[in-house]
Amino acid sequence: MILNGKRILLIIGGGIAAYKSLDLIRRLRERGASVRAVMTSAAQEFVTPLSVGALTADHVFSDLFDRQDEHDIGHIRLSREADLLVVAPATADLMAKLANGHANDLASTVLLATDKKVLLAPAMNPKMWSHPATRRNRATLEKDGTHFVGPKSGEMAESGEAGEGRMAEPLEIVSAIEALLDVGPRPLSGRKIIVTSGPTHEPIDPVRYIANRSSGKQGHAIAAALARLGADVRLVSGPVTIADPAGVNTVHVESAREMRDAVEQLLPADAAVFVAAVADWRTDNAAGEKIKKVAGEGPPALQMVENPDILAGVGHHKQRPYLVVGFAAETQDVLKNAQAKLAKKGADFIVANDVSHEGGVMGGDRNRVRIVSGGGVDEWPDLSKQEVAARLAALVAERLKTITV
Ligand code: CTP
Repeated sequence: MILNGKRILLIIGGGIAAYKSLDLIRRLRERGASVRAVMTSAAQEFVTPLSVGALTADHVFSDLFDRQDEHDIGHIRLSREADLLVVAPATADLMAKLANGHANDLASTVLLATDKKVLLAPAMNPKMWSHPATRRNRATLEKDGTHFVGPKSGEMAESGEAGEGRMAEPLEIVSAIEALLDVGPRPLSGRKIIVTSGPTHEPIDPVRYIANRSSGKQGHAIAAALARLGADVRLVSGPVTIADPAGVNTVHVESAREMRDAVEQLLPADAAVFVAAVADWRTDNAAGEKIKKVAGEGPPALQMVENPDILAGVGHHKQRPYLVVGFAAETQDVLKNAQAKLAKKGADFIVANDVSHEGGVMGGDRNRVRIVSGGGVDEWPDLSKQEVAARLAALVAERLKTITV
């Protein structure tokens, strides 16, 4: 079992998502981990220590000053006798306490006393998550080296409000735990893999640019999933607002030409996955000065020229990686179009996005893809971008296994 012998200290915060922590305990234990739980007093309003204790098969800790308690082992021991601390759900309050070093209950004291990695799975109302105070606390915690999984967007259980704030699913938390504990098969160790992600910005003048709606979520998730399988991942990211993935070496670029240069400098590599939504065109001559309105002259005409095709360049490169994967936005004739693209771009696989997908692929959290190769089409179900990433990373590992270096 993958988590055999690993000790997780699970801190359950007070939120409706606390019920998912029960499932999380079950998932961790079936993978061989032992789980010890600390509950805040608010958490006990949502789930009972009795049910948590039944699942951990251990005493549930909640009181800081309960020296009468025969199970009391003290906060230092609690936090040190674990391989990893996981806070799920991590409420806005717990994040604020940890970001500011408060220690006025057992949960916050244990978090402050630990010398182990800490993983937070935030869950809160979207307004609370996007509040400047929570954003500040998150930035502080990230700077301190605290790890995060989620939150995701979706409907909130209590209010029906939509937005970012839903706790990650138990299995996603389990994957994040496995990654932090550095366990699991690492079939890609020793493999160098280039990934492109995000949009590109093509300048018009020093203050204006042409862009697209790509968020980088899918590409970054793929980079992280490849790294979890042990690959040395070099991510070339266009301008995005999401964080660099953990365990990945990230280079930031703006334009398609910068992205091409960065990718070519990273060759040779074992594989390359081109997820970026590269602008097909750029303005011919970006103005060196801000273009001004001139009375009577009307709007400027933008002269466009084609950008280099980065994927095609690498697909036909003399240092072509063993495995080259491209993405495509197809709505019709998927097989025909994608197969034509395979040859044109020199790719082994094309991951065809169904861009008619409900809710929109670009910027969204889910994706429905088809994997087109010389061998045919493999249709995947509607999945989260994390799941698409995990499956694609497994596919890359499978393909590279047959190639010995
Ligand atoms: N790509 C690239 N460099 C470009 C354009 C695209 O590397 N200048 C890569 C993308 O990262 C993606 C694939 O090529 O992997 C997408 O190819 P593209 O020809 O843009 O296909 P579609 O987006 O499907 O659009 P079209 O219908 O124009 O072919």
